[in-house]
Amino acid sequence: MTLTRRGLLAASAAALLPFPAATATALSNLGQIAKSAGVLFGSAFDREVLSDAHYQRAILQTCRIGAIENSLKFDWLKPRGRDGDYSHADALVAFGQRHGLALKGTALIWNDWTPPWLNALSSREIAAEMDRHIEATMARYAGRIWAWDVVNEPFLPIQGREGGFRKGPWLDAMGTAYIERAYRRAAAADPKATLILNEAFCEQNDDWGNAIRPRFLAFVRRLKDQGVPLNGVGFQGHLKPSLPHDYQQFAAYAAQFAELGLDVHISELDVDDSSFPDDPVQRDRLVAAQITKFMTPVMTVPRLKSICVWHLSDRFSWYRNADWFLEQIRKAGGDPARAPRTHFLDDNLNPKPAWRALEAAFVTAR
Ligand code: G3I
Repeated sequence: MTLTRRGLLAASAAALLPFPAATATALSNLGQIAKSAGVLFGSAFDREVLSDAHYQRAILQTCRIGAIENSLKFDWLKPRGRDGDYSHADALVAFGQRHGLALKGTALIWNDWTPPWLNALSSREIAAEMDRHIEATMARYAGRIWAWDVVNEPFLPIQGREGGFRKGPWLDAMGTAYIERAYRRAAAADPKATLILNEAFCEQNDDWGNAIRPRFLAFVRRLKDQGVPLNGVGFQGHLKPSLPHDYQQFAAYAAQFAELGLDVHISELDVDDSSFPDDPVQRDRLVAAQITKFMTPVMTVPRLKSICVWHLSDRFSWYRNADWFLEQIRKAGGDPARAPRTHFLDDNLNPKPAWRALEAAFVTAR
């Protein structure tokens, strides 16, 4: 047998795959269907999109936007020092550009997951580091990244900080002024970029969601009053069916941001399936029902701009690496060894009921 160069490349790409090749079920072009409903649809992805040809094809067939999941985060760019390594991010941005995907960078500034060297600096140095990071990163990708989560998850009241703000080096160094400062720097660094403030837990009516929602709205209102350059807000949408929720109420809440002149993004949609039974068929059905329950009111929110899923497929579920998630399955009486079925395509990239639920929500809203 003669191996061609192309054959060799295909064989080495296949060797990287941890899963069997996808069975070639045709995927509906959700990006196109969502466009007819007036919204941008896409998915988070990271380096795996460059090495897994099947996954890459699924992304390109279905998405109009792509969120770079991790490689643009401060701790991924600069784990050991301020100079950092942008090579992975560069490759992902080049990929997005090559294929006409509108890219979102997430996240420039987040009080979680900061590297130890940053935490050891003085307040003055941390403030300077923030400016430097925003300016260098945004200038590097100016015109090539459509939107940025400039600040991610500003609130976490359970931590007990004044005003309910999330603790971490940026807050400790600058107080809450770090947020306004970050947006002003970002607008100066790339005046054409869309600047988003991304928040978690607002879709749930437990203690966390109830505490964050009013604080987040009041804070954003204040930013707008002060003329801070902010174009939109992101609600993550990591849905947790076992917690109290009222998605009609959530949609009415999100509409209040539209009234402030902001675009609304659902930025990280998926369903935590830890409270569901082990049986995969039942789980898939329940995950899909949760998507329908959420998406139906959400599609009525004025200025709804984008729906981004936090991975298209279970093949790359971020829940696989989250210890708290396995603990939750155990507590719910499930088998912690079971694979998460938290996303829209299965491990083999075949559409699941949640995919069809998303599609139906877009079709109905057209
Ligand atoms: O790649 C290593 C793997 O080799 C190792 O075996 C494994 C063991 O822990 O870790 C793997 O790296 C993990 C990486 O995700 C890839 O799965 C990191 O430890 C882990 O810190 C990292 O977590 C990311 C997390 O943000 C923290 O940055 C998740 O991928 C990412 O999906 C998640 O995304 C966040 C959003 O940015 C903000 N909203 C919440 C969302 C979910 O937590």
